[in-house]
Amino acid sequence: MRVIGIESSCDETAVAVYDARLGLLAHALHSQVAMHQAYGGVVPELASRDHVRRLLPLVRQALAEANSDRRSIDAVAYTAGPGLIGALLVGAAFAASLGLAWNKPVLGIHHLEGHLLAPLLEPDPPNFPFLALLVSGGHTQLVDVTGLGEYRILGETLDDAAGEAFDKTAKLLGLPYPGGAALAKLAESGRRDRFVFPRPMLDRPGLEFSFSGLKTAALVALRGRVLDDAIRADVARGFQEAVVDTLAEKCRRALELTGHRRLVVAGGVGANRRLRERLAVVARGAGAELHFPRAEFCTDNGAMIALAGCMRLAAGLQPSLLSIEARANWELGDSGAMA
Ligand code: KG4
Ligand code: ZN
Repeated sequence: MRVIGIESSCDETAVAVYDARLGLLAHALHSQVAMHQAYGGVVPELASRDHVRRLLPLVRQALAEANSDRRSIDAVAYTAGPGLIGALLVGAAFAASLGLAWNKPVLGIHHLEGHLLAPLLEPDPPNFPFLALLVSGGHTQLVDVTGLGEYRILGETLDDAAGEAFDKTAKLLGLPYPGGAALAKLAESGRRDRFVFPRPMLDRPGLEFSFSGLKTAALVALRGRVLDDAIRADVARGFQEAVVDTLAEKCRRALELTGHRRLVVAGGVGANRRLRERLAVVARGAGAELHFPRAEFCTDNGAMIALAGCMRLAAGLQPSLLSIEARANWELGDSGAMA
């Protein structure tokens, strides 16, 4: 079984081919980051238009790289939500058209399911069940994963997502959008204890997060100071330590609560080195395995969508659809009309 996966939920256009027996055969991606940078964030209409331009060449590129043609593809999987509605609709309409033209089933995939299955693209993949920490630009969630399609959200952010907090604080530090990775780089030369920011929600039980106060704390710390490189690096370090500490402690509690012996980290912030270091310590302490995708599969990509499509098809979990589904808001675990 071979599935082509299409991702277009935000500012990355990506296409990949995954084979149930051979694994990932190809993945092609175009990032729109440079286009949106001038505006300091993603401009939805520009994103949709660029997806239209990029999808077909990326499909050709991925098929060529996979040494495949349409006859060897068994199904088309695409990200049906959540995300920017225009961007999603481009991918959905494109996938439905491919399905119609190639006479193949079409599967709508939950973007976050894609993220949390991404570690399965790596050698030595985790088995079910596991605890997943999903940390992206739009979401921060701890998920109890008991099987494919069996997801229970244990806790999530009450305001900003971890990646959003990274990006907003990066902006305060004068870094271009999206500044998460650049902030992490800057933090490497910062001093750990020059600025100690609050650890939100650690003083109470539960697995909820709150990150919006941290950017305010960073703003207050920067106020009235000359923004030289040393101060910026110290604030970046202090901010990163606070986010990472909070995520690590909530993972520790969630492992204790669920008794899971595997911790899976996914989403763009999962590429953060400091977070990986700290979670390795937490996992060791809990006697758990730690799994995360390589950095390029932490951020949005087509490989995770092709993989999720292939797994769903193999499990007989989703009937073929020829309708166009796109949902800007879609809770993980709420399969709704797409079950
Ligand atoms: O998963 P993703 O590509 O897109 C969403 O579905 O949101 O995540 C993007 C987010 C951005 O906020 C970006 O700044 C953040 O992940 N990010 C990082 C790092 N690399 C990407 N945040 C912290 N450290 C990094 N190394
Ligand atoms: Zn994502």
